[in-house]
Amino acid sequence: MRISKQIRLHDKEFEVSIWEEDIVEAVRRVAERINVDFEERSMPLFISVLNGAFMFSAELLKNITIPCNISFVKLASYRGERSTGDVMELIGLSESIAGRDIIILEDIVDTGNTYECLVETLRKHSPKSVRIATLLLKPDVYSKELPVDYVAIKVPNEFIVGYGLDYNGLGRNLPDLYTLIS
Ligand code: IMP
Ligand code: MG
Repeated sequence: MRISKQIRLHDKEFEVSIWEEDIVEAVRRVAERINVDFEERSMPLFISVLNGAFMFSAELLKNITIPCNISFVKLASYRGERSTGDVMELIGLSESIAGRDIIILEDIVDTGNTYECLVETLRKHSPKSVRIATLLLKPDVYSKELPVDYVAIKVPNEFIVGYGLDYNGLGRNLPDLYTLIS
């Protein structure tokens, strides 16, 4: 039996909800599916979305056995003109994505707003296809039509930190996933 583990980040208490070895196993299963799905296709380009996806990306990519390219981006979102709504800018994408099979790597898909904006932004550069692999999905909150292709772990609608995810800048380094308790 595992002993429960609690931590305090800023003003909040968190408790371990998913242990590192279970995360690693779930991520390995996603990598295996990608290896199979892309065996016969052209070499994919993984685009890891920083900061949150750094730990998931490292674990996943260690288990990818097909030839691939890897790039890291940051998203900067700002409010556009009233007519255009939120605008998202991609920082750091050095490769050309035209004609490429893209696999976005994300830490978490919550409402899906970020994912949808990201796909719209990438499509302007004419990729052949865009898929996503995410460490976490909150299926009760996700409200978009876009399929979420590869999901390592589905979680309830609770606030989670660790394994790359933060609470106001803290917790990204934690190897387990923690859920907010109070
Ligand atoms: P979206 O609602 O799918 O657009 O998610 C937006 C962003 O909110 C994610 O990329 C995360 O950075 C953050 N986020 C959503 N849920 C959580 C959580 O439970 N813990 C930490 N960050 C979260
Ligand atoms: Mg994120």
